[in-house]
Amino acid sequence: MIDLHCHFLPGVDDGPETLPEALDLARAAVADGITHSVLTSHIHPGRYPNQRRNLQVAVEQFSQHLKDAGISLDVRMGGEARLCPELIDLVAEGEVPFLGEVGGFRILLLEFPHQLIPLGSAKFVSRLMQLKIRPLIAHPERNKAIMSDHRKLHEFVQAGCWLQLTAGSLTGRFGEQAEQTAFSIIDEGWNCLVSTDAHNLSNRPPRLAEARAVLSQRFGEAIAQGMVYGKAARILGLTTPTPAH
Ligand SMILES: [Fe+2]
Repeated sequence: MIDLHCHFLPGVDDGPETLPEALDLARAAVADGITHSVLTSHIHPGRYPNQRRNLQVAVEQFSQHLKDAGISLDVRMGGEARLCPELIDLVAEGEVPFLGEVGGFRILLLEFPHQLIPLGSAKFVSRLMQLKIRPLIAHPERNKAIMSDHRKLHEFVQAGCWLQLTAGSLTGRFGEQAEQTAFSIIDEGWNCLVSTDAHNLSNRPPRLAEARAVLSQRFGEAIAQGMVYGKAARILGLTTPTPAH
């Protein structure tokens, strides 16, 4: 399985503070059946001032530590960008790492505030699409406004956004409302995948297998596999495109 959203790098955001904690997270991911993790540290000016320049070094160092510790997890640089006015400038300066590229669009993991959808967000998203950047909206099922009515996502999906659901939401870890909202989003047939958003071993662990089992039981094996592997593999460029006939 592939995890497109997790916080493993030590000391850069609200993920692990120390290297041993970070290595334990990576070990737990491997034990769960995860082969690739994109390290999506928070990029949130004023709160977590991460940019490509420091994250690149941190990921390279962490990757070496994984090798030294004999942990076979393929880690890549990513970022979870907070929706904020500074974001367009950061993108223009090349300081926001993308998850990958599909069909000429770079894929950006984009985080809304947790309580609401700010006014002007749809316009902001359209601006990103014009720049050939497709937002993958992080954990919409945990946003209070979307939990009250998941159809608020419709205009973002229409604009071209893809959606990243949290594995823990599908297994009830974030409460019944997040769980129901996640299922409603899948039922809509919108383009979504599942990642862990792991931060620590105690209450936000890097586990995908349990969510995969829930998906398989409820929606079938093909959809489950697509959401924990296939779509992410396409974003990372791990799959060979099928030749056109
Ligand atoms: Fe996150």
